[in-house]
Amino acid sequence: MLRTHTCGELRISDVNKEVTLTGWVQRSRDKGGMLWIDLRDRYGITQLILEEGKTDASLLAAARQLGREFVIRAKGVVVERLSKNDKIATGEIEVRVSSIDILNTSKLPPFTIEDDTDGGDDLRMKYRYLDLRRSVVRENLLLRHKMAQQTRAYLDSQRFIEVETPVLIKSTPEGARDFVVPSRLNHGEFYALPQSPQTFKQLLMVSGFDRYYQIVKCFRDEDLRADRQPEFTQIDCEMSFITQEDILNTFEGLVRHLFKNVKGIEIPSLPRMTYDDAMKYYGSDKPDTRFDMKFVELNDVAKGRSFSVFDEAELVVGICASGCAGYTRKQLDELTEFVKRPQIGTKGLVYVRFEAGGAIKSSVDKFFQESDLKKIGEKFGAQPGDLVLILAGARDKTRKALNELRLLMGTQLGLRDKNKFSALWVLDFPLLEWNEETNRWFAMHHPFTSPKPDDIKLLDSDPGAVRANAYDCVINGTEVGGGSIRIHDRGTQQLMFSKLGFSDEEARRQFGFLMEAFEFGAPPHGGIAFGFDRLCSLFGGSDSIRDFIAFPKNNAGRDMMIDTPATILQEQLDELGIAVKVAKP
Ligand code: AMO
Repeated sequence: MLRTHTCGELRISDVNKEVTLTGWVQRSRDKGGMLWIDLRDRYGITQLILEEGKTDASLLAAARQLGREFVIRAKGVVVERLSKNDKIATGEIEVRVSSIDILNTSKLPPFTIEDDTDGGDDLRMKYRYLDLRRSVVRENLLLRHKMAQQTRAYLDSQRFIEVETPVLIKSTPEGARDFVVPSRLNHGEFYALPQSPQTFKQLLMVSGFDRYYQIVKCFRDEDLRADRQPEFTQIDCEMSFITQEDILNTFEGLVRHLFKNVKGIEIPSLPRMTYDDAMKYYGSDKPDTRFDMKFVELNDVAKGRSFSVFDEAELVVGICASGCAGYTRKQLDELTEFVKRPQIGTKGLVYVRFEAGGAIKSSVDKFFQESDLKKIGEKFGAQPGDLVLILAGARDKTRKALNELRLLMGTQLGLRDKNKFSALWVLDFPLLEWNEETNRWFAMHHPFTSPKPDDIKLLDSDPGAVRANAYDCVINGTEVGGGSIRIHDRGTQQLMFSKLGFSDEEARRQFGFLMEAFEFGAPPHGGIAFGFDRLCSLFGGSDSIRDFIAFPKNNAGRDMMIDTPATILQEQLDELGIAVKVAKP
């Protein structure tokens, strides 16, 4: 090896050792005849020292010419530092250099390779390989590595078998658009990249694999956000001969194992909440339960006071923000502006202040007597000093808006601490959801999810009321995983496809292979997939999954470094049998 030690390894006990280090020049400081060089590698930083009088003059002159990010090999003796640095692990020592080899030079990097870099997002993405030299970014990928190792260790201990499934497949409907790949050997035909290995893992259950998992790339052509990438990774799992209860217990085990072995945190057993309760108390199917501030419905005490906004509303509902009665007019106006933004879309916000001195003041004093306001306060258990915020309107829209307001208040009050974790299961999702644009029912999870047996009778009369054996794992308000117990008989699967508007012909064309497999002894089965990037970013305390992906795409779906998507050669298009209209110059 070119080195005897790494740059993160040497300690006071190594003093007087002759060592050889390799790495990148992070920076040099030249002062009064002394030259210090910070040498960096994956493991840390070690300070090198060269000194007039003690170091060979030609070596010192050469060392002064080293630029940032030059790759060098330095030989020398470990000595105790005069002024120690307790911020780095090697901070008690330095290496008095006797020789330096330049292994490679470097152009001046376009941004500083430091934790607090001066590089903007686009520049760092274009030179991602330099960005990855920064210890903060590297730490994120080390965390990801640890998460993957611990996932494999846990699932292996539970007898899961890792099986690879193909990447060139036929469309799997998970609700997003497919990325497609043209076939050269079959002109006019296309593969689709998997949105998930859903159908394959079900087929593996038919094959008798019993417990399958895969840490696997999935591809979805959807609009991107901080927690969505066009290609992302799932911890994809499936089990046979199980009930929903078995799945919840097994994967609660995985989540707790990861917290314990990666973060050193023992989290409590995951509480369970039905989808209906999540919507009623948090206005979201992924409630952030790090803080309370639950919704309280107020129809019984708010209506009938001649305040038309409340009287005409389907739902009057509010939250109580502890200790916020002192909010100024300006702060309340800002909250009102927030809920009136088009993305949130309510007409206004009603507040009731329970002042510390006992007075009660509200924005609806004209309509509500103090005794009415007291009743409202009682519903929340409001204390002097609290602020109640109320929205009114159509039920689902109002709940959604109040969820946004609750999250904003949680953030403003510092209740969404990144180092605190609150995980739960959300259960009993609806099987179907109505799509206004296309005027038809869609599978809320995917078409292979089984309805609850008790609800099957409602499939014709009230499809929206049918609940599914489907569950999500939610941590800190992020959906980190989702799954279901599957349909495993041809008849029910065919019924499902017909409810979703597939003709028999269409269902056979797209999913004939699965329905046929169900006729060869398909065991009862179910599974789940965790969003691996989301889990990593949550564990790392970041909102953006990009920070935990080595080479991510930007919000326009572009890889800025390799500059793609890109056009391809006319010959390639011809071979693929694809005609592209090229604009004439
Ligand atoms: P689902 O579609 O819920 O389920 O996906 C599972 C989990 O994957 C994560 N996820 C994403 N992460 C980053 N970028 C994206 N674009 C993205 N889309 C989804 C989420 C989500 O909870 N086949 C089913 C699973 C099953 O039923 O077993 C599926 O894919 O964290």
